[in-house]
Amino acid sequence: MSAHDTTEPTRRDFLYIATGMAGVVGAGAVAWPFIDQMRPDASTRALASVEVDVSSLEPGMSLTAKWRGKPVFIRNRTPEEIEAAKAVPLADLKDPVARNANIASDAPATDADRSAGEGKENWIIMVGVCTHLGCVPLGQSGDFGGWFCPCHGSHYDTAGRIRKGPAPENLAVPAFEFISDTKIRIG
Ligand code: FES
Repeated sequence: MSAHDTTEPTRRDFLYIATGMAGVVGAGAVAWPFIDQMRPDASTRALASVEVDVSSLEPGMSLTAKWRGKPVFIRNRTPEEIEAAKAVPLADLKDPVARNANIASDAPATDADRSAGEGKENWIIMVGVCTHLGCVPLGQSGDFGGWFCPCHGSHYDTAGRIRKGPAPENLAVPAFEFISDTKIRIG
C-alpha cells in the first residue's frame, strides 16, 4: 500500500464531476467557478493524511485513529511486547513480508521492520483491518498477546504479524512519519 493508494476521488474524478455539473447548469460562463471550487485544494488533500497526537500514550497504551475511513492502531508497546516479537524466528511466520509501506515491499517481517524503526521500536502503527475478510481485530488479545480477530479466529502477535488462523497477511503498516516526538502524520 502506498500513500497514493486511495479510494478517494482523484483529480481526474474532480474534473469529471465538475464537467458534469457544468452540463447540469448548462451555462459555460459559470463552469469555471465550479471547476475552481472543486479543484483538490488543501482541505481536500488533508483528507489523505491525518495528524495524531500521541503524547498521552504511555507504554502499554494504544489509540485508534481514523484514516481514509479505516481504523489505524497506534500502540506504544511495552518492553515485554517488543522482546516477545523480537524473539520470534522468521521461519515461524506465516507471512514473512513486513507489509510496511515505508520500506521496501520485500522487506522481511522482522520486528524492526514492522515497528516505527530505530529508536522508536516501541511504536507500532497499523491499519486495523483483518487481512482475512476485513473485521477490526481486538487489541491485546489472542494467543500471542497482540491482536485477535474474533470473526474467524485470526491471531496476530505483538508486531501485528499473523501467527494463527485464516488471515493471509500481517496487518498493514501505512505510510507515516513522526513530525515531532509526539505527533505522527499518517498518509
Ligand atoms: Fe478476521 Fe476473518 S475477518 S479472521
